[in-house]
Amino acid sequence: MYLHGTSKINDNGHLEIGGVDVADLAAKFGTPLYIVDEALVRQRAREYVDAFTKTGLKFQVAYASKAFSVKAMCVLAEQENLSLDVVSDGELYTAIQAGFPAERIHFHGNNKTEEEINMALEVGIGCFVVDNFIELHMLDELAAKKNNVVNVLLRITPGVEAHTHDYISTGQQDSKFGFDLGNGSAREAVVQASQLANLKLLGVHSHIGSQIFEVEGFRMAVEKVTQFAVAIRDELGILFSVINVGGGFGIRYVEGDSPLPIAEYVNAIADAIKSNFTAADYAWPEIWVEPGRSMVGDAGTTLYTVGTSKNIPGVRKYLAVDGGMTDNPRPALYQSQYEAVLANRANEEATELVSIAGKCCESGDMLIWDLKLPEAKTGDLLAVFCTGAYNYAMASNYNRIRRPAVVFVKDGQADLVVQRESLDNIVCNDVIPERLQKSSLAK
Ligand code: LLP
Repeated sequence: MYLHGTSKINDNGHLEIGGVDVADLAAKFGTPLYIVDEALVRQRAREYVDAFTKTGLKFQVAYASKAFSVKAMCVLAEQENLSLDVVSDGELYTAIQAGFPAERIHFHGNNKTEEEINMALEVGIGCFVVDNFIELHMLDELAAKKNNVVNVLLRITPGVEAHTHDYISTGQQDSKFGFDLGNGSAREAVVQASQLANLKLLGVHSHIGSQIFEVEGFRMAVEKVTQFAVAIRDELGILFSVINVGGGFGIRYVEGDSPLPIAEYVNAIADAIKSNFTAADYAWPEIWVEPGRSMVGDAGTTLYTVGTSKNIPGVRKYLAVDGGMTDNPRPALYQSQYEAVLANRANEEATELVSIAGKCCESGDMLIWDLKLPEAKTGDLLAVFCTGAYNYAMASNYNRIRRPAVVFVKDGQADLVVQRESLDNIVCNDVIPERLQKSSLAK
């Protein structure tokens, strides 16, 4: 059994996280429950900040809040000196409501609306990562109306795509994001941005993928970005002061996943920046990264209660829990794999092979196929590990199932950071138009 962060099995044979017995958490907060190991999130943040500090480069570590955006998480990011990447008015609003300093917020997205841009201008965010020509001009006009000059990075598609162990370099990248490096649109975007009076061009952004286990893709991206920066300097006399290489640093979900220590990714990127820019006689730019998954992923555990089971002799045994694809759509969407433990009998020998089903009305609602567990009974607790990133963030109300609560645990203390949805929450936005109401139907 692989235990992350502060997780351990206590003397009662129960899983304990942040010094709190998860059986107590289930009793107090109910299940399903997202549990976040606060110390592990802080540790990850510090690994990034410490590694960058040692490189001697100027940097910003922007937590990609899409992975898990709630107010308490924004407070934590603020306390750990992180910046914040947001991609919608909802994520921006969450950050602002949490008191996150606007000047450390970066706004992403391939289709920012006028409303969202205005909101970001009003609160005074630190930087827009501009994705396309329409946005470039809209942002300039809206900033002009407010007599603002705003910082921008241009998102470029460097023609490097990385997924876990595979990285490929493609000439022309087929992507909905950013300005293409290969076909000249990135160069054109620099030309136009530099001519727009209400934009201050800081540099470029690239993001090559997610759940990446190797440094080679990042090195390739830095190399392409450097070549671009040098070409722009030589042709147009424009210098970049910031290079953002995005996120994508991998984590261990299951045995066989082999992410590198955070410092190794950071050092590889920093070394590539230093050597490439030095070779081009170009002042080292400030380096920004945007980790999401690797900041919160392995700090999250989802706790479920086991309900029914169905044994099909010679085929398989299904064990159903009180959540499913509504709180974790990743197995259904990406065939993601997870490890889990019977949290109230964690020391008992695993004697049975079971598959963990959710409670949604859909055969695809499976959380784990073929998991070895002690013989589980109704009422046992199942803890699924590594659910901190893109779980609460992607949760839905499918089948009108309520989204779980989230608690932060640390040093024996558990604090609610998101309440469980109520049945009233489920219907609170529903409206029955007058003409459908009984009184009108009677007429
Ligand atoms: N920056 C940009 C521009 C991104 O698009 C992303 C992720 C990140 C940073 C953060 O990447 P991370 O460090 O978390 O890998 N829902 C999917 C993941 C989608 C990632 C989208 N972009 C999943 O559950 O695996």
